[in-house]
Amino acid sequence: MAIRVAAIPGSLREGSLNKGLLRAAVELAPAGMEIIIYTRLGDIPLYNDDVFTKGDPEPVADFKAAISGADAILIATPEYNYGVPGVLKNAIDWASRPAGKSVLNRKPAAIIGCSPGLGGTIRAQHALRQSFVFTETHAMLQPEIKIPSAAPLFDASGKLTDENTHQYIKKFLDAFVIWIGRFKD
Ligand SMILES: Cc1cc2nc3c(=O)[nH]c(=O)nc-3n(C[C@H](O)[C@H](O)[C@H](O)COP(=O)(O)O)c2cc1C
Repeated sequence: MAIRVAAIPGSLREGSLNKGLLRAAVELAPAGMEIIIYTRLGDIPLYNDDVFTKGDPEPVADFKAAISGADAILIATPEYNYGVPGVLKNAIDWASRPAGKSVLNRKPAAIIGCSPGLGGTIRAQHALRQSFVFTETHAMLQPEIKIPSAAPLFDASGKLTDENTHQYIKKFLDAFVIWIGRFKD
């Protein structure tokens, strides 16, 4: 059975470079790995514990199902003001509940990101790792994909065309297969 990976872009915008990174990952996935991009992040309401207590709204249930139905998650995060974009953090907060029974508990994960500027999303990636401590989400440590000055690596349609970056992604996904295997029962 193929390893199923739920890919979560941390950007809602149509022309998102990070969505482009995930589309490239879909195409470059090694044999035996299927990557499915989650497309409904924008439907998830702002976290409210009163709403959670009454029951997950449908988009939250859908997001949790995408995570629980996958063997692992792959997040491509932009960096906003040196941190994780609110839409992504909000979705992770929903997924982290109920505490102790979260779909993120001990789920293998990997974090990647790219930015048009020089930071390459490394600060956002580190911040996102902190959100995975309480849920013991196993975020892969190495290799890392943190790509600065990324805009020229994509064509006008948003397709990643840079061959070096294709090679990084392939190596990253090969390592991710091994990482996921470490947490199989
Ligand atoms: C509110 C906001 C804050 C941003 N802060 C940062 C930042 O701290 N570091 C950075 O490298 N880029 C920052 N940027 C630029 C983003 O890296 C850029 O918009 C990027 O294309 C977003 O990712 P996406 O293409 O996947 O949507 C910021 C953009 C916005 C809209």
